[in-house]
Amino acid sequence: MPQSLITGAYPATRLRRVRQHDWARRLVRETKPSPDDLVWGMIVHDGKEPRVSVKSMPGVDRLNVDEAAKAAVRARELGIPAIAIFPHINPARKNEGGDEAVNPEGLVPTVIQAMKAAAPEVGIACDVALDPFTSHGHDGLLSDDGYVLNDETVSVLTEQALIQARAGADIVAPSDMMDGRIGAIRTLLDEEGYDNVMILSYAAKYASAFYGPYRDAVGTASVLKGDKKTYQMDFGNTEEALREVAMDIQEGADMVMVKPGLPYLDIVQRVSSEFGVPTLVFQISGEYAQIKAAAAQGWLDEDKAIVETLSAFKRAGASGVITYFAERAAQLLGK
Ligand code: PBG
Repeated sequence: MPQSLITGAYPATRLRRVRQHDWARRLVRETKPSPDDLVWGMIVHDGKEPRVSVKSMPGVDRLNVDEAAKAAVRARELGIPAIAIFPHINPARKNEGGDEAVNPEGLVPTVIQAMKAAAPEVGIACDVALDPFTSHGHDGLLSDDGYVLNDETVSVLTEQALIQARAGADIVAPSDMMDGRIGAIRTLLDEEGYDNVMILSYAAKYASAFYGPYRDAVGTASVLKGDKKTYQMDFGNTEEALREVAMDIQEGADMVMVKPGLPYLDIVQRVSSEFGVPTLVFQISGEYAQIKAAAAQGWLDEDKAIVETLSAFKRAGASGVITYFAERAAQLLGK
């Protein structure tokens, strides 16, 4: 048992003494999230409308290119280090192969360029995966019998990552859970002269019910056939998450991610303590929607829930948090 747990006995020791005043609580607080910990999860779209609200994520809008550029300026003002962008494209542009993912003039490269022109000091991270672009909503290419093909998908993903890097992305973030994609992306980026582009690997990503609102936001909910259990992880497993992380680090990941967040804090804690690499956590759409829905009913205080959940991520060892609450959180934490 650590020494700190066996020293001190009642009544000489009263742990409530340091909880008496706000100043004392602040003084002894171990974990303090700050705006520096935030990555702003942002949905962008290729339509004309500046903003289109996402029904299942109240307060989150799909932004067009101009609004996204303004949001980058807003992130800079608030001291938010980086933005992670997620695209919603016109369904007419989707096909079986997800070709729009590798269009150098597509939505994502256009948004990256606009954001970088408006606020070059803000880091831009892009999801590498095919789901927003395929007519079936899966993250990769399908075989005739509907299996998500690994190696064939990886070769498209490397091209997608290269296009993002060329457009100015600072971080490419493969969220697809194919085997071997980190090494393949690193190799291609290096060959093409993008050796300074970072890779944030969605290393331990679980097949989760909590992705529901995101699939509504990026327009895959209505098209997705089946589930993603043949590539995303089973939520019963921990050891497998550690293997995923170890392999991605070996293949060249600069940062790793655990996703979802709050129901998986045990994984965040183990990954951050066992590997000692920058470990990000994603407070995903379903976690966002839960807090929003309860707050809308008056059942909990939204601002307090934001700060508490961010503190929990930091306490578990996360270096940073991708969150749709980033704008509000930066205001709350920047005070
Ligand atoms: C898939 C992807 C997902 C999210 C981001 N990229 C999950 C999925 O559809 O399987 C989830 C983000 C969220 O729920 O906020 N490439």
